[in-house]
Amino acid sequence: MSITFDFSGRTALVTGAAQGIGHAIATMFHDAGAQVAVVDRDPVALKAAWDGKERVFAHAVDVTDSSAVSAAVDAVVAETGSLDIVVNNAGITRDTVVWKMSDDQWQAVIDVHLKGTFAMTRAVVPHMRAAGFGRIVNVTSYTGLHGTIGQSNYAAAKGGIIAFTKTVAKETARFGITVNAISPNAATPMVLAVGQERLAEMTATVPVGRFADPSEMATAVGYLAADESAYVTGVVLPVDGGLAM
Ligand SMILES: NC(=O)c1ccc[n+]([C@@H]2O[C@H](COP(=O)([O-])OP(=O)(O)OC[C@H]3O[C@@H](n4cnc5c(N)ncnc54)[C@H](O)[C@@H]3O)[C@@H](O)[C@H]2O)c1
Repeated sequence: MSITFDFSGRTALVTGAAQGIGHAIATMFHDAGAQVAVVDRDPVALKAAWDGKERVFAHAVDVTDSSAVSAAVDAVVAETGSLDIVVNNAGITRDTVVWKMSDDQWQAVIDVHLKGTFAMTRAVVPHMRAAGFGRIVNVTSYTGLHGTIGQSNYAAAKGGIIAFTKTVAKETARFGITVNAISPNAATPMVLAVGQERLAEMTATVPVGRFADPSEMATAVGYLAADESAYVTGVVLPVDGGLAM
């Protein structure tokens, strides 16, 4: 069962597109006919996932490097002629309780999520303003809404993304740009890394009783990225089986 979207004529850029949720989102856009820019800091995984596909433009970029992000955005616009949709999805975790957290653990997580989302958004908004159209979808988390033990760095970053989303939504609404966020819950390498026992405990807290397939996150992003969603901006859409209720 799947919803069929039509993104032909659009260019969509997805960060963290080598695996997990980002890969599923980029696949949805590709299946829907878009030109797709896939961005990831892991060139090997990016190549393995996307090499040889038509309408795909791969850029091995670390989103914490704002100069590289700007250069990639300019390159995608040159390659495809536009940049209509951006999904700020790249993410990492460095978990430990706050009293054991190092400066490096704190900063690494803040940089990838918060600085990366800022750097990409700053680079794409001028193109979207010029076009009079844009869809930005950021990826936050249950942890950014409610907190999770061992994730103060990640909570600060994801909570920051929510406030950032609402602010940029207000700043850009008059230019035909919408800025929204999803809060996912999906079985990806990031989640599966916690191990079977912890995974079973986590699954027990989900009202729907399972982790989603990453493609179920892509469906929500497709809705927020559609032309028809022009009147939806500044929202955080939990796609989490009821977890955040
Ligand atoms: N999986 C879940 O249930 C869940 C829940 C809440 C939020 N999220 C968020 O969803 C997003 C995707 O998570 P996932 O589960 O697919 O993770 P994942 O680890 O499976 O994939 C993350 C991808 O991001 C890339 N990446 C990491 N740092 C990067 C950087 N600096 N620059 C460019 N690319 C980088 C990785 O190489 C990887 O391909 C993340 O923002 C995560 O915080 C996931």
